Amino acid sequence: MKLYHAPASPFVRKVMVLLHEAGALDRVAIIPASGNPLDPGTIPVDRNPLGKIPALERPDGPTLYDSRVITRYLDDLLQTGLYPTAPRLWDTLVIEATGDGIAESAVVMRYEMHVRPEASRSVAWAEAQWQKIDRALTALEERWLSQLSGPLDMGQVAVGAALGYLDFRHADRNWQALHPALAAWWAGFSARPSLASTAP
Ligand code: BEZ
Repeated sequence: MKLYHAPASPFVRKVMVLLHEAGALDRVAIIPASGNPLDPGTIPVDRNPLGKIPALERPDGPTLYDSRVITRYLDDLLQTGLYPTAPRLWDTLVIEATGDGIAESAVVMRYEMHVRPEASRSVAWAEAQWQKIDRALTALEERWLSQLSGPLDMGQVAVGAALGYLDFRHADRNWQALHPALAAWWAGFSARPSLASTAP
């Protein structure tokens, strides 16, 4: 299998952490790919028409894309146990969607302020993205800390990938100041070898 990969992408990081946790890094060849909304660059648009990474090329079926599709596929293939059975599954999926939503807004902010031509940038648009992130961080802290501290699952991995991206691209926002309990969880979780070795 081939994984189209960029080290800064929080969505690629989710897949890499899963492979790491499953002891299956040797099952994929890493293919560097980079691009942005204005230019797909080396992202294989013939395999993912949306021009996004990660994309996972398989020998026996169509290329998979969208990190959640890839992680569900790899979980099924490798029997990782990172998606528990229902009813806990629904909590895991909501937490994963929350992490992915934080990452999505954080990447959109990055594109808005660094890729969109300067004359058409909107600070209000970027701030609205940050409001989504801040609400989601509050929800994680108020509702989901106990599940985040439970057995490893893809919800935790997605939140970790998102928080790592905030630290990488939006460190000036100092999200930890307003969310100290989530920051304490992240300080411990980010030390796992699968997270430490995939930091952007
Ligand atoms: C970044 O450089 O911030 C980035 C790269 C790939 C995907 C998303 C973000």
